[in-house]
Amino acid sequence: MTASTASTAEKYRPALHFSAQNTWINDPNGLIYHDGLYHLYFQNNPQGNVWGNMSWGHATSPDLLAWTHHPVAISCDENEDIFSGSTVFDRKNTSGLGTEGKAPLVAFYTSFYKPGNARHGLQAQSLAYSLDGGYTWTKHAGNPIIDRNSPEFRDPKVFRYTAAGQSYWVMVAVEAKDHQVVLYKSENLLEWEFLSSFGPANATGGVWECPDLFELPVDGDPGQSKWVLIVNLNPGGPNSGSAGQYFVGSFDGTTFTSESTVTEGRSGDERLAEYQWLDWGRDYYAAVSFSDAPDGRRLMISWMNNWEYANDIPTSPWRSPMSLAREVALRTINGTPRLVQVPASDPKNEFESTAEFASGLVQLENEAQVLEQAAGAVQRIKLSIDPGTAKEAGLVVRSGASEGTRIGIDVERSELFVDRRASGETDFHAAFASLDKVPLPLVNGRYELTIFVDHCSVEIFAHDGAVTMTELIFPSPSSTGLSLYATGGAASFHDLSVIRFD
Ligand code: FRU
Repeated sequence: MTASTASTAEKYRPALHFSAQNTWINDPNGLIYHDGLYHLYFQNNPQGNVWGNMSWGHATSPDLLAWTHHPVAISCDENEDIFSGSTVFDRKNTSGLGTEGKAPLVAFYTSFYKPGNARHGLQAQSLAYSLDGGYTWTKHAGNPIIDRNSPEFRDPKVFRYTAAGQSYWVMVAVEAKDHQVVLYKSENLLEWEFLSSFGPANATGGVWECPDLFELPVDGDPGQSKWVLIVNLNPGGPNSGSAGQYFVGSFDGTTFTSESTVTEGRSGDERLAEYQWLDWGRDYYAAVSFSDAPDGRRLMISWMNNWEYANDIPTSPWRSPMSLAREVALRTINGTPRLVQVPASDPKNEFESTAEFASGLVQLENEAQVLEQAAGAVQRIKLSIDPGTAKEAGLVVRSGASEGTRIGIDVERSELFVDRRASGETDFHAAFASLDKVPLPLVNGRYELTIFVDHCSVEIFAHDGAVTMTELIFPSPSSTGLSLYATGGAASFHDLSVIRFD
């Protein structure tokens, strides 16, 4: 299969990432693997390319890279918009919504009630079910199924909790402005009992949205597992605007207890670097995981955009891509279990490459080297950098006569940065042009980077996914240059490999 190419009319249309067909999208919703396909539902405005008329759009993929678009799955109506949520396969028909021999898929979403509805101003949780494998959905007659009389109660993520002879459904949702995750329990997906709440904790510089809770082995050892609570935050991320934080801890079936809560000392803003972030880039939001992913994998997708400028990004007629799907795991780093993330499917295994470039050692001292043979608009780049005596070392991707995106290491500060101030179109919003940073330790004398470049994004996985950074860019299609550089001294670049897909 070849990666799709951007046409001139749609010059930013990604090749490796899911993107809206010709309308607006935001959060991934209802992610589930079912009957051999990954189903991606998403916040969608079926009638336009800015936020509004929220409904669940739908696409499927066998491999998380090539997507087929389907008609809107759950549509807004005169009563409600359909906000974010999740889907489970009710394989034992605990809900009774299935039919003889046909277990239902059950989708949980937030009802955002419209003016004219008696509940206008409130948000409550509702469900819809599908008996045809996720293509058509029926809203449950008994909606809403949980109503707290709250204007900020949203984003239900449901999973099956099984431990110590107990098994039931658990929902995590948020009271967004209170910075609380609320947990509920159910036997039948229809009636829910309040369990507990978590928060406020760590980053609270914006509303808490789109939570998720799942168990993962630590260092691959199922005997040593911990629970991960995902809380998306908007704004208040480490490089401004929307971002996702996570907590590692335990869940006893009732209460989540965090082991990564930072409680004392300086003020919240100064502590941002001490919290756990899913991604340090500007464009990784509303990250949530799949239900029933095969082989016990925990796979996540995020919306690759930021509410600061989301409605203004210069794509047309579509607006917003999703991130690559990522497989997440817990790895002990400096004595603490941390979430590490790698692409769930490597494009190298799914798409034909149009060119491959590899080089041995490259040493540069106060100079840049253009790699003519490694040019491209859609690429997977791998390398490791020994900073040597340099003050700064890195690469410039998607470069042209007067533009380029710098991905580099500030050696003194041991920081990875993405500088998109001259990346291409930036003036559509004052908050877009930015230099964004993340602390990155030297490991065995090197900085190891894997970078996915696409028509409108760069996604960086450093040190086998211990740190990630995802950013939108809008370069000219002709800006396909790739170069390496070192300033303030000499650096060496090892094991460079570039695979081109456009
Ligand atoms: C997050 C979010 C959710 C909400 C949805 C509405 O981006 O604000 O909290 O359900 O988007 O589109």
